[in-house]
Order: sequence, then C-alpha cells, then structure tokens
Amino acid sequence: MLKRIAPDEVRLGHFIHAIDGSWLSHPFWKTKFVLADPADLAALRASGVEAVLIDEARSVVETEMRPAATSASQDASRVPKQAPASSGDGLRAPSVAPAPLPQSCSVAEEVARAAQIVNRSKRVVMQMFSQARLGKVVETARVLSVVDEISSSVARNSSALVTLARLKTADDYTYLHSVAVCALMVNLARQLRVGDESLVRELGVAGLLHDIGKVGIPRQVLNKTGRLSDEEFALMREHPGHGHRLLREAGTESEVVLDVCLHHHERIDGRGYPDRLSGDAIGLFARMGAICDVYDAVTSERAYKTAWDAGDSLARMLKWEGHFDPTILHAFIRSIGVYPVGTLVRLRSDRLALVLELNPDDLTRPVVRVFHSAAGAGRIPVQDVDLASSSVDDSIVSRERPRDWKLVPWKARWSALMGLDPDLVDGAA
Ligand SMILES: [Fe+2]
Repeated sequence: MLKRIAPDEVRLGHFIHAIDGSWLSHPFWKTKFVLADPADLAALRASGVEAVLIDEARSVVETEMRPAATSASQDASRVPKQAPASSGDGLRAPSVAPAPLPQSCSVAEEVARAAQIVNRSKRVVMQMFSQARLGKVVETARVLSVVDEISSSVARNSSALVTLARLKTADDYTYLHSVAVCALMVNLARQLRVGDESLVRELGVAGLLHDIGKVGIPRQVLNKTGRLSDEEFALMREHPGHGHRLLREAGTESEVVLDVCLHHHERIDGRGYPDRLSGDAIGLFARMGAICDVYDAVTSERAYKTAWDAGDSLARMLKWEGHFDPTILHAFIRSIGVYPVGTLVRLRSDRLALVLELNPDDLTRPVVRVFHSAAGAGRIPVQDVDLASSSVDDSIVSRERPRDWKLVPWKARWSALMGLDPDLVDGAA
C-alpha cells in the first residue's frame, strides 16, 4: 500500500516508491528502492522535498521490528531456567538480577571510567583465554562482574567504551574485540528490547565469550598479515565449533551463550559457517552476534588491514547482500547512531568534523568537532558544534573517508581530536 509521508517520518528500511519535487536528479533516486543507507536518509531529510511516497508492504521498518521482538521473546522463552550461581566450576547462566540502570552521561564524562573498565576487562579476557588453552575454566563470578561493568558503562553512554576499544592494536585485537562485542551486544539488546536485564546480561556474556574457540588456533595463523592459505582458513573456520565444545565441557548451560558462540559466523544467505544455516534457521541472538562481531572487526586495526571509519563501515555492511538480517542491522545502526561517534563527516559549511556526541532525539544531528576546511584551507581552529541547536545553521551533507583527505597519520590525529589518550588503554599506544 502506498502512503505519502513527510521526509522527517521516513526511516531506514522504508521502501521508497517516489519522491515529490525535482531536486533529486541523481540516477539513484529515480529507481524504487529500500532506503538502507543512513547517509541517504540524512540527505533526504536535509533536501527540502515536501513528501515521499513509500510502499508499506515492501518496507522492512517497524512492521518487521515487531516480529523481531516477538521472535526475541520466543527465543528468550527457550532459554533454560537460570542456574544457581556457580562457585567457579563452570560458566553458568547468571542468577542474581543485574542492578538497575544508571543515569546517562556524555562521552567525555564516561571515557576515563570506560578506560578503566576496558583495561580490567581485557585482563580478565586474557586470563580466560590462557586458562582455556590449558583446558581450565574461568570463574563465572569474574565473567559476570566484567559484563556488569561493561553493561553499566554502555547504559551511562552507549558510545564511550566502544569508541575507546577502537584504539586497540592488532596484538590486542582478540581480547579487546571480545570486550567491544560484549558492549555492542548489550546496547543492541536494549535497542531491540529483547527482554529484561537478565537476558541483556546473558547476551553480554555471549559477546564476551563468542570467540573463545580461537584458543585452538595457532597464533601465527591468528595474527598472520598475509592472505590465509586454504588449510589455514579451514582451521579458522573451526573456532565456533571448538568454542562451543569448550563451553559445554566447562558446564555452560546458557543456550544463548552456546548459540552465539557456535553460529556468529552464519550468514542469512546460507553461505556462512559452520552449519551453513540460512534465514530464520539462524537464531535471533546469533544474528545479533554476527553484526556486532563484524562491525567491531572492520572498525579495528588488524594484522592485515587498517581500521575503517565507523560510518563508512555501516554503509559497507548495508551493501553486503545476504550477509546480515537487515531488520537487525537497521536496529544496530539506531543503537550506535546513523553517524557513530568518531565518524568523519563533511558539513554544509564545507568543513570536516568528527562526530563527538549522539543526539538521541535526532541521530542525523549530533554534536561534532570541526577541525578542517574542505575548501582547501586545511587545518582550522577546533570548534564543537551542536547541530541540533536552533542557533546553528549547519548540517551533515556526507560521510567522508579519511584517506580521501590525506589526513595522516589518521589514527593519532583521530585519537587526539576525540580527546582519547591512547595511554588510557593498556598496550594501545
Ligand atoms: Fe568468530
């Protein structure tokens, strides 16, 4: 059914049938399509068109979010009864209810506290991996305490810890990746309203442990800078199964944790591994895990590639047909922002800026830190601009790739502009 709506009402996932007005001469806009790119949504809203004709039947927004939430509660109902708190004899589902959510605060207010949490969490994850290599199991209480700390940080500010974890080096990757995926899972779980805070916590545990099977992969393969051989790639593909066995042997009873560990590399089109599951055969929590896992992987520096910009990563992920559940991916984008904190953007005033703080009421109008003239003047005085303020006449016109502007060395420049001291994260300097 076709419906005419105002540009402000258009959401990611809407099927665009037609656009009123003549401003859009770009060929892209002449076709009918699902609006999937946050930058296109921002451009549409900033365009001044009066109305957009959407096809509700072909849209994958809201109407499909509800079934997702329903399937979440169905999945949640499959979670076995919570086991009693363990005394360290295996990773069991948590039993004590998590504390109430704390008050929210800004990235700047959270970042120092988040750094301490990242460092503590990293040490626990390193210990967990080395114990797992020896066939031992980490104490449940320590895992839960790490997840609760990460979860509280994300509740105070959804961006601080994840942005900070992007400072990880290739050497740190496996450990801090676990911490970042835990944070992203918690944040996405709250966005999707999958269930109560006990389930959110369980998904945090799943994020922290999803790659535990990597202990079975030789370090020279894990950290290889060149292309993996067929044999090495086959070895890599064994880590979900290995992790799943390891967790079962350790006494893990949570089906959520086990499923995310085993199936976070499955793809919607059935071309993932280890079981080549497709569509709904992949559980909701594993589909969530796949998105959080890939997002942190591509925004991190790896042994074989530099980190991608956060906003650019989302745009690329949206274009990977058959990889992710599109409805969950859209929810993920809402959970971290259309322009995630740290994204390089160009403003209508022809200046480059980094996204500093999300505006929950309008994700297309964050607080940005302006630092560079796109008109050729290069560096300009650093200035923070709240794009949602009524006194500011400026807006984001595009995401930009740092390499297109020769902003090198980008990682150091980015950290300095974001006010993130690399020394905050152990080993990231
Ligand atoms: Fe993995």
